Amino acid sequence: MEKMYSCRYATNSASLEENIIQKTCELWNTFNGSSLSKDDFIKRILNGRYELILAMKDLDVVGFVLNELVSSPLRVSSSIEIWALYVSENHRKKGVGKMLLEEVSSFGKNCDCFDIHVSSDIKPYVINFYRSCGYSNYAIRMRKGLK
Ligand SMILES: CC(C)(COP(=O)(O)OP(=O)(O)OC[C@H]1O[C@@H](n2cnc3c(N)ncnc32)[C@H](O)[C@@H]1OP(=O)(O)O)[C@@H](O)C(=O)NCCC(=O)NCCS
Repeated sequence: MEKMYSCRYATNSASLEENIIQKTCELWNTFNGSSLSKDDFIKRILNGRYELILAMKDLDVVGFVLNELVSSPLRVSSSIEIWALYVSENHRKKGVGKMLLEEVSSFGKNCDCFDIHVSSDIKPYVINFYRSCGYSNYAIRMRKGLK
């Protein structure tokens, strides 16, 4: 892992510079194919419900992970759900994704969470990526379409 990468918490938009919000928004749009405006991004992502952790290279945002702390009626401690994880193409395979997941683990331990969940597209390389970061198969998701 190149030392030049670091993590930055972005839970509160007031503490983020405009260019960082803009760049995070661009990465988000690249990731999910939406064209969410910067204002919508701030409203939806930085509203306190989610934890957004940015991967930084110097002052540039090169990736992010978006989590939610979820409490379950069946468990005493909460879980973390990872909703999105993205590393900019130019910075892949340099340990940035792993660094973000390690930060999620630290965050979860600090919050006394029980475990971390992620539902991902079944792309083999993404499965390999999560496996190499200590994740294992957990459950089968089932679905019935209504439309
Ligand atoms: C998946 C993703 C986040 C990985 O980020 P990354 O910074 O390239 O991953 P890392 O460099 O930290 O790799 C960590 C481990 O995963 C493995 N890995 C990463 N990409 C891989 C690939 N394309 N093929 C095989 N293994 C891969 C690495 O070899 C490494 O293993 P090691 O620790 O045993 O050496 C990145 O490819 C991405 O943003 N993809 C598009 C978005 C996406 O699919 N997100 C996941 C769904 S939420």
